[in-house]
Amino acid sequence: MAVTLEYERINISRGGRPVLVDIDLVLPAGGLVALTGASGAGKTTLLRITNRLLAPDSGRLLIDGADAANEPGPQLRRRIGYAAQGVGLFPHWTVGDNIAAVPWLNGMERQGRDRLVLEMLDLVELPQSFASRMPAALSGGQASRVGLARALAARPGLLLLDEPFAALDPETRNELADRIEALHKAQGLTTLLVTHDLADALTRATRILVLDGGRLVADATPAALVADPHPAVQALIASPLDQARRLVRLTE
Ligand SMILES: Nc1ncnc2c1ncn2[C@@H]1O[C@H](COP(=O)(O)OP(=O)(O)OP(=O)(O)O)[C@@H](O)[C@H]1O
Ligand SMILES: [Mg+2]
Repeated sequence: MAVTLEYERINISRGGRPVLVDIDLVLPAGGLVALTGASGAGKTTLLRITNRLLAPDSGRLLIDGADAANEPGPQLRRRIGYAAQGVGLFPHWTVGDNIAAVPWLNGMERQGRDRLVLEMLDLVELPQSFASRMPAALSGGQASRVGLARALAARPGLLLLDEPFAALDPETRNELADRIEALHKAQGLTTLLVTHDLADALTRATRILVLDGGRLVADATPAALVADPHPAVQALIASPLDQARRLVRLTE
């Protein structure tokens, strides 16, 4: 079941500096929401607050209407699919054990886990034989898919993806983005997708959030965002737009 998220005046400082300032936001169930903004804007911090790896200094996060602070973090995280920035697979575990990490924590027995791993590999379109591989033997794109499979293995209602396309070539990232979009729909998820790439965000998401220096400076549909005059938004849009124009000119 897709999850509803409500952020109420969330503030957090790190190392004495404010990193998120007065974040007020409601994400209804079922949205595919892109979270973008320059490096250091606070994107990862917002994801980490969402799955309680970090507690805000003030403000509340409601998950399906319940205050997230009232549930132990580890328990909460087992219901949330999280693919961390840089994938973060456990290097000494096989791909299969990585994928089944949360179900294992939840006490799922061996046979069930083996079946689940094969199903998740199918979902992310990797060969089932990858279950016995070690993470070091994966390409960047394959590792991203394993990270996605691991995030989906607990059958979450909420999927948090932190730059799943980083360091992938354009074709691979497009394939992975297609896969994420399809899985988002098929699995009935609320998905919060952090991406540096505004072109991805604009073409995939139903809604775009832009963070700038810890403040939410835009919250709009893709079409409305393009018309947004905020300087931080314009700065993000300028380069993909320019690139697209030059490409179109070449084909004319
Ligand atoms: N443990 C920490 N101690 C102090 N400052 C931190 C810590 N973690 C993050 N920060 C700071 O918080 C700010 C936001 O970091 P965050 O990782 O959320 O940015 P981001 O938007 O995800 O950036 P990127 O696009 O580079 O991943 C940055 O200025 C960062 O230096
Ligand atoms: Mg980050």
